[in-house]
Amino acid sequence: MIPRAALVTGGAGFIGSHLVARLLGEGCQVTVLDDLSMGKRENVPSAARLVIGDVRDREAIDDALAGVDVVFHLAARVSIRASVAGFYSDAETNLMGTLNVLSACGEHHVRRFIYASSMAVYADSPQPTPLSEEYEPRPISPYGVAKLACEQYAQLVGAQLGFDTAVLRYFNTYGPRQTFTPYVGVITIFVQRLLRGEPPLIYGDGNQCRDFVHVDDVVDATVRAMTTNERATVFNVGSGQGMTVNQIAALLCARLRPDIKPEHLPEHPGELRNSVADITRANQQLGYRPRVRLEDRIDEVIAWNRGA
Ligand SMILES: NC(=O)c1ccc[n+]([C@@H]2O[C@H](COP(=O)([O-])OP(=O)(O)OC[C@H]3O[C@@H](n4cnc5c(N)ncnc54)[C@H](O)[C@@H]3O)[C@@H](O)[C@H]2O)c1
Repeated sequence: MIPRAALVTGGAGFIGSHLVARLLGEGCQVTVLDDLSMGKRENVPSAARLVIGDVRDREAIDDALAGVDVVFHLAARVSIRASVAGFYSDAETNLMGTLNVLSACGEHHVRRFIYASSMAVYADSPQPTPLSEEYEPRPISPYGVAKLACEQYAQLVGAQLGFDTAVLRYFNTYGPRQTFTPYVGVITIFVQRLLRGEPPLIYGDGNQCRDFVHVDDVVDATVRAMTTNERATVFNVGSGQGMTVNQIAALLCARLRPDIKPEHLPEHPGELRNSVADITRANQQLGYRPRVRLEDRIDEVIAWNRGA
Protein backbone atom coordinates (compact mmCIF):
# COMPACT_ATOMS: atom_id res chain seq x y z
CA MET A 1 0.00 0.00 0.00
CA ILE A 2 1.40 3.40 -0.96
CA PRO A 3 1.02 5.84 1.92
CA ARG A 4 -0.90 9.05 1.70
CA ALA A 5 1.81 11.09 3.26
CA ALA A 6 5.49 10.58 3.97
CA LEU A 7 8.08 12.53 5.92
CA VAL A 8 11.67 12.36 4.68
CA THR A 9 14.12 13.74 7.23
CA GLY A 10 17.33 14.78 5.49
CA GLY A 11 15.31 15.08 2.28
CA ALA A 12 17.40 18.00 1.01
CA GLY A 13 20.52 15.82 1.06
CA PHE A 14 21.93 13.36 -1.44
CA ILE A 15 19.95 10.13 -0.94
CA GLY A 16 16.98 11.90 0.63
CA SER A 17 16.37 14.18 -2.36
CA HIS A 18 16.35 11.23 -4.78
CA LEU A 19 13.92 9.44 -2.45
CA VAL A 20 11.64 12.48 -2.32
CA ALA A 21 11.47 12.64 -6.13
CA ARG A 22 10.62 8.94 -6.33
CA LEU A 23 7.91 9.18 -3.63
CA LEU A 24 6.30 12.14 -5.38
CA GLY A 25 6.35 10.07 -8.57
CA GLU A 26 4.50 7.30 -6.70
CA GLY A 27 1.75 9.76 -5.80
CA CYS A 28 2.71 10.40 -2.17
CA GLN A 29 2.42 13.72 -0.42
CA VAL A 30 5.91 14.44 0.83
CA THR A 31 7.21 16.63 3.63
CA VAL A 32 10.94 17.20 4.05
CA LEU A 33 12.53 18.11 7.37
CA ASP A 34 16.10 19.30 6.91
CA ASP A 35 18.23 21.91 8.64
CA LEU A 36 20.11 22.54 5.36
CA SER A 37 23.43 22.05 7.17
CA MET A 38 24.54 19.85 4.26
CA GLY A 39 21.44 19.57 2.11
CA LYS A 40 20.33 22.25 -0.35
CA ARG A 41 16.97 23.89 -0.77
CA GLU A 42 17.19 23.45 -4.55
CA ASN A 43 17.45 19.65 -4.11
CA VAL A 44 13.87 19.60 -2.80
CA PRO A 45 11.26 19.44 -5.59
CA SER A 46 8.69 22.22 -5.34
CA ALA A 47 5.88 19.65 -5.01
CA ALA A 48 7.24 18.67 -1.59
CA ARG A 49 6.64 20.69 1.57
CA LEU A 50 9.94 21.79 3.10
CA VAL A 51 10.22 22.35 6.84
CA ILE A 52 13.60 23.86 7.62
CA GLY A 53 14.48 22.63 11.07
CA ASP A 54 16.63 20.43 13.23
CA VAL A 55 15.72 16.85 14.18
CA ARG A 56 16.70 17.79 17.73
CA ASP A 57 13.93 20.39 17.80
CA ARG A 58 10.66 18.79 18.84
CA GLU A 59 8.52 21.68 17.54
CA ALA A 60 9.99 21.34 14.05
CA ILE A 61 9.32 17.59 14.09
CA ASP A 62 5.74 18.06 15.27
CA ASP A 63 5.18 20.50 12.43
CA ALA A 64 6.72 18.15 9.86
CA LEU A 65 4.80 15.09 11.13
CA ALA A 66 1.31 16.55 10.73
CA GLY A 67 -0.80 13.97 8.87
CA VAL A 68 2.15 11.68 8.06
CA ASP A 69 1.83 7.85 7.71
CA VAL A 70 5.40 6.83 7.04
CA VAL A 71 8.68 8.33 8.17
CA PHE A 72 11.95 7.86 6.30
CA HIS A 73 14.63 8.99 8.73
CA LEU A 74 17.75 9.92 6.78
CA ALA A 75 18.86 13.13 8.52
CA ALA A 76 22.30 12.59 9.99
CA ARG A 77 25.81 13.89 10.15
CA VAL A 78 27.32 11.54 7.63
CA SER A 79 30.99 11.14 8.33
CA ILE A 80 32.77 8.21 9.89
CA ARG A 81 36.00 10.18 10.01
CA ALA A 82 34.46 13.27 11.63
CA SER A 83 32.75 11.04 14.21
CA VAL A 84 36.11 9.73 15.42
CA ALA A 85 37.23 13.23 16.39
CA GLY A 86 33.76 14.56 17.22
CA PHE A 87 31.87 11.64 18.77
CA TYR A 88 29.82 13.92 20.99
CA SER A 89 28.40 16.07 18.22
CA ASP A 90 27.90 12.97 16.04
CA ALA A 91 25.75 11.46 18.81
CA GLU A 92 23.84 14.70 19.38
CA THR A 93 22.33 14.49 15.89
CA ASN A 94 22.63 10.82 15.00
CA LEU A 95 21.54 9.36 18.34
CA MET A 96 19.58 12.02 20.24
CA GLY A 97 18.07 13.49 17.08
CA THR A 98 16.80 10.03 16.12
CA LEU A 99 15.33 9.42 19.58
CA ASN A 100 13.56 12.76 19.31
CA VAL A 101 12.00 11.72 15.97
CA LEU A 102 11.06 8.29 17.35
CA SER A 103 9.29 9.69 20.38
CA ALA A 104 7.32 12.11 18.19
CA CYS A 105 6.34 9.25 15.81
CA GLY A 106 4.52 7.51 18.66
CA GLU A 107 2.40 10.56 19.39
CA HIS A 108 1.61 11.25 15.75
CA HIS A 109 0.36 7.69 15.07
CA VAL A 110 2.92 6.99 12.37
CA ARG A 111 2.39 3.57 10.74
CA ARG A 112 5.93 2.74 9.64
CA PHE A 113 9.41 4.06 10.43
CA ILE A 114 12.19 3.40 7.93
CA TYR A 115 15.66 4.02 9.24
CA ALA A 116 18.73 4.77 7.11
CA SER A 117 21.42 2.77 8.82
CA SER A 118 24.85 1.89 7.52
CA MET A 119 27.40 -0.79 6.82
CA ALA A 120 29.34 0.96 9.60
CA VAL A 121 27.41 -1.13 12.17
CA TYR A 122 29.38 -4.27 11.25
CA ALA A 123 32.59 -5.57 12.77
CA ASP A 124 35.53 -5.28 10.43
CA SER A 125 35.89 -8.29 8.17
CA PRO A 126 39.30 -9.77 7.33
CA GLN A 127 38.02 -10.95 3.92
CA PRO A 128 36.07 -9.17 1.16
CA THR A 129 33.34 -11.81 1.28
CA PRO A 130 29.77 -10.45 1.34
CA LEU A 131 28.39 -9.97 4.87
CA SER A 132 24.85 -11.01 5.72
CA GLU A 133 22.67 -9.19 8.24
CA GLU A 134 23.69 -11.90 10.75
CA TYR A 135 27.34 -10.81 10.63
CA GLU A 136 28.62 -9.55 13.95
CA PRO A 137 27.46 -6.01 14.76
CA ARG A 138 30.53 -4.46 16.39
CA PRO A 139 31.10 -0.97 15.02
CA ILE A 140 34.64 0.40 14.94
CA SER A 141 33.59 4.08 14.72
CA PRO A 142 31.38 6.33 16.88
CA TYR A 143 29.20 6.89 13.79
CA GLY A 144 28.59 3.12 13.60
CA VAL A 145 27.89 2.91 17.35
CA ALA A 146 25.16 5.55 17.06
CA LYS A 147 23.68 3.90 13.94
CA LEU A 148 23.52 0.51 15.67
CA ALA A 149 21.99 2.00 18.82
CA CYS A 150 19.32 3.73 16.72
CA GLU A 151 18.47 0.52 14.85
CA GLN A 152 17.82 -1.13 18.19
CA TYR A 153 15.94 1.82 19.66
CA ALA A 154 13.74 2.04 16.56
CA GLN A 155 12.79 -1.65 16.73
CA LEU A 156 12.20 -1.63 20.48
CA VAL A 157 10.40 1.68 20.72
CA GLY A 158 8.41 1.07 17.53
CA ALA A 159 6.96 -2.13 18.99
CA GLN A 160 6.14 -0.26 22.19
CA LEU A 161 4.59 2.78 20.51
CA GLY A 162 2.74 0.86 17.79
CA PHE A 163 4.61 1.39 14.53
CA ASP A 164 6.54 -1.02 12.28
CA THR A 165 10.22 -0.45 11.76
CA ALA A 166 12.42 -1.33 8.80
CA VAL A 167 16.16 -0.82 9.05
CA LEU A 168 18.15 -0.40 5.84
CA ARG A 169 21.91 -0.74 6.06
CA TYR A 170 23.12 1.30 3.11
CA PHE A 171 26.57 0.54 1.72
CA ASN A 172 28.74 3.05 -0.22
CA THR A 173 26.16 5.00 -2.17
CA TYR A 174 27.16 7.07 -5.22
CA GLY A 175 25.32 9.15 -7.77
CA PRO A 176 24.55 12.72 -8.77
CA ARG A 177 23.98 15.27 -5.98
CA GLN A 178 26.25 13.53 -3.48
CA THR A 179 27.05 16.20 -0.94
CA PHE A 180 30.73 17.04 -1.27
CA THR A 181 32.87 16.98 1.84
CA PRO A 182 36.51 15.91 2.08
CA TYR A 183 35.34 12.90 4.13
CA VAL A 184 32.31 11.34 2.48
CA GLY A 185 31.77 9.50 -0.77
CA VAL A 186 35.06 8.26 -2.15
CA ILE A 187 33.81 8.36 -5.76
CA THR A 188 32.67 11.99 -5.50
CA ILE A 189 35.91 12.97 -3.72
CA PHE A 190 38.12 11.28 -6.34
CA VAL A 191 36.13 12.77 -9.25
CA GLN A 192 36.35 16.27 -7.75
CA ARG A 193 40.10 15.96 -7.19
CA LEU A 194 40.74 14.66 -10.71
CA LEU A 195 38.63 17.46 -12.20
CA ARG A 196 40.92 19.91 -10.35
CA GLY A 197 43.98 18.06 -11.71
CA GLU A 198 44.84 16.62 -8.27
CA PRO A 199 45.66 12.95 -7.58
CA PRO A 200 43.16 10.81 -5.67
CA LEU A 201 44.40 10.32 -2.08
CA ILE A 202 44.15 6.72 -0.92
CA TYR A 203 44.37 6.05 2.81
CA GLY A 204 46.35 2.85 3.42
CA ASP A 205 47.29 0.34 0.72
CA GLY A 206 44.05 0.79 -1.25
CA ASN A 207 43.14 -2.88 -1.11
CA GLN A 208 40.26 -2.15 1.26
CA CYS A 209 37.12 -3.39 -0.43
CA ARG A 210 33.85 -1.47 -0.76
CA ASP A 211 30.39 -2.13 -2.15
CA PHE A 212 29.46 0.80 -4.39
CA VAL A 213 25.72 1.03 -4.96
CA HIS A 214 23.93 3.58 -7.12
CA VAL A 215 21.49 5.93 -5.39
CA ASP A 216 18.65 4.77 -7.70
CA ASP A 217 19.06 1.23 -6.37
CA VAL A 218 19.21 2.47 -2.77
CA VAL A 219 16.01 4.45 -3.31
CA ASP A 220 14.34 1.42 -4.89
CA ALA A 221 15.12 -0.75 -1.84
CA THR A 222 13.95 2.04 0.48
CA VAL A 223 10.60 2.40 -1.28
CA ARG A 224 10.17 -1.39 -1.27
CA ALA A 225 10.71 -1.37 2.51
CA MET A 226 7.73 0.98 2.77
CA THR A 227 5.30 -1.38 1.08
CA THR A 228 6.49 -4.82 2.12
CA ASN A 229 4.37 -6.95 4.41
CA GLU A 230 7.44 -8.79 5.66
CA ARG A 231 8.10 -8.40 9.33
CA ALA A 232 11.87 -8.89 8.98
CA THR A 233 13.28 -5.58 9.92
CA VAL A 234 16.93 -5.34 8.91
CA PHE A 235 18.14 -5.34 5.31
CA ASN A 236 21.51 -4.79 3.65
CA VAL A 237 21.30 -2.46 0.68
CA GLY A 238 24.31 -2.72 -1.59
CA SER A 239 25.23 -3.97 -5.03
CA GLY A 240 26.48 -7.29 -3.68
CA GLN A 241 29.81 -6.75 -5.49
CA GLY A 242 33.13 -5.70 -3.99
CA MET A 243 35.58 -3.27 -5.53
CA THR A 244 38.85 -2.08 -4.00
CA VAL A 245 39.65 1.58 -3.53
CA ASN A 246 42.65 1.05 -5.84
CA GLN A 247 40.29 -0.27 -8.54
CA ILE A 248 37.91 2.66 -8.32
CA ALA A 249 40.82 5.12 -8.33
CA ALA A 250 42.29 3.43 -11.43
CA LEU A 251 38.92 3.47 -13.21
CA LEU A 252 38.40 7.18 -12.50
CA CYS A 253 41.98 8.14 -13.42
CA ALA A 254 41.58 6.26 -16.72
CA ARG A 255 38.33 8.15 -17.51
CA LEU A 256 39.41 11.59 -16.39
CA ARG A 257 43.19 12.00 -16.18
CA PRO A 258 45.24 9.02 -17.36
CA ASP A 259 48.37 11.12 -16.70
CA ILE A 260 47.66 11.28 -12.93
CA LYS A 261 48.52 8.50 -10.46
CA PRO A 262 46.82 8.12 -7.05
CA GLU A 263 48.84 8.93 -3.92
CA HIS A 264 48.82 6.87 -0.73
CA LEU A 265 48.59 8.27 2.83
CA PRO A 266 48.51 6.45 6.21
CA GLU A 267 45.22 4.67 6.90
CA HIS A 268 42.54 6.30 9.07
CA PRO A 269 41.22 4.89 12.37
CA GLY A 270 37.55 3.84 12.35
CA GLU A 271 37.44 2.79 8.69
CA LEU A 272 36.50 -0.75 7.73
CA ARG A 273 38.92 -2.91 5.81
CA ASN A 274 36.25 -4.88 3.95
CA SER A 275 32.63 -3.96 3.52
CA VAL A 276 30.61 -5.87 0.93
CA ALA A 277 26.87 -6.59 1.25
CA ASP A 278 25.19 -9.94 1.02
CA ILE A 279 21.83 -8.79 -0.40
CA THR A 280 20.04 -12.15 -0.39
CA ARG A 281 17.51 -11.09 2.24
CA ALA A 282 16.52 -7.85 0.50
CA ASN A 283 16.31 -9.80 -2.75
CA GLN A 284 14.08 -12.51 -1.33
CA GLN A 285 11.91 -10.43 0.98
CA LEU A 286 11.74 -7.05 -0.74
CA GLY A 287 12.21 -8.17 -4.34
CA TYR A 288 15.22 -5.83 -4.47
CA ARG A 289 17.55 -6.30 -7.44
CA PRO A 290 20.25 -3.69 -8.00
CA ARG A 291 20.09 -2.69 -11.66
CA VAL A 292 22.79 -0.07 -12.10
CA ARG A 293 26.31 -1.07 -13.20
CA LEU A 294 28.92 1.42 -12.08
CA GLU A 295 30.61 1.48 -15.49
CA ASP A 296 27.29 2.45 -17.12
CA ARG A 297 26.49 5.41 -14.89
CA ILE A 298 29.86 6.78 -13.81
CA ASP A 299 29.90 9.32 -16.66
CA GLU A 300 26.66 10.81 -15.32
CA VAL A 301 28.32 11.26 -11.91
CA ILE A 302 31.35 12.88 -13.55
CA ALA A 303 29.11 15.21 -15.58
CA TRP A 304 27.20 16.24 -12.46
CA ASN A 305 30.43 16.98 -10.58
CA ARG A 306 31.70 19.07 -13.51
CA GLY A 307 28.66 21.30 -13.10
CA ALA A 308 28.58 21.30 -9.29
N1 LIG B 1 25.99 8.13 1.40
C1 LIG B 1 26.29 6.91 1.83
O1 LIG B 1 27.13 6.22 1.24
C2 LIG B 1 25.60 6.33 3.06
C3 LIG B 1 25.99 5.05 3.47
C4 LIG B 1 25.38 4.49 4.60
C5 LIG B 1 24.37 5.20 5.25
N2 LIG B 1 24.02 6.45 4.83
C6 LIG B 1 22.97 7.15 5.57
O2 LIG B 1 22.00 7.64 4.65
C7 LIG B 1 21.46 8.87 5.13
C8 LIG B 1 21.55 9.95 4.06
O3 LIG B 1 22.93 10.18 3.75
P1 LIG B 1 23.41 11.10 2.54
O4 LIG B 1 24.58 10.45 1.94
O5 LIG B 1 22.24 11.47 1.71
O6 LIG B 1 23.96 12.36 3.35
P2 LIG B 1 23.64 13.93 3.22
O7 LIG B 1 24.60 14.64 4.13
O8 LIG B 1 23.60 14.33 1.78
O9 LIG B 1 22.17 14.00 3.82
C9 LIG B 1 21.89 14.16 5.19
C10 LIG B 1 20.90 15.31 5.31
O10 LIG B 1 20.59 15.48 6.71
C11 LIG B 1 20.55 16.88 6.98
N3 LIG B 1 20.81 17.05 8.42
C12 LIG B 1 21.99 16.86 9.06
N4 LIG B 1 21.84 17.14 10.37
C13 LIG B 1 20.54 17.48 10.55
C14 LIG B 1 19.78 17.88 11.68
N5 LIG B 1 20.34 17.95 12.90
N6 LIG B 1 18.47 18.17 11.52
C15 LIG B 1 17.89 18.11 10.27
N7 LIG B 1 18.58 17.74 9.16
C16 LIG B 1 19.88 17.43 9.30
C17 LIG B 1 21.60 17.50 6.09
O11 LIG B 1 21.38 18.88 5.84
C18 LIG B 1 21.48 16.66 4.83
O12 LIG B 1 20.56 17.24 3.92
C19 LIG B 1 22.21 9.19 6.42
O13 LIG B 1 21.45 8.78 7.53
C20 LIG B 1 23.47 8.37 6.31
O14 LIG B 1 24.00 8.05 7.59
C21 LIG B 1 24.62 7.03 3.74
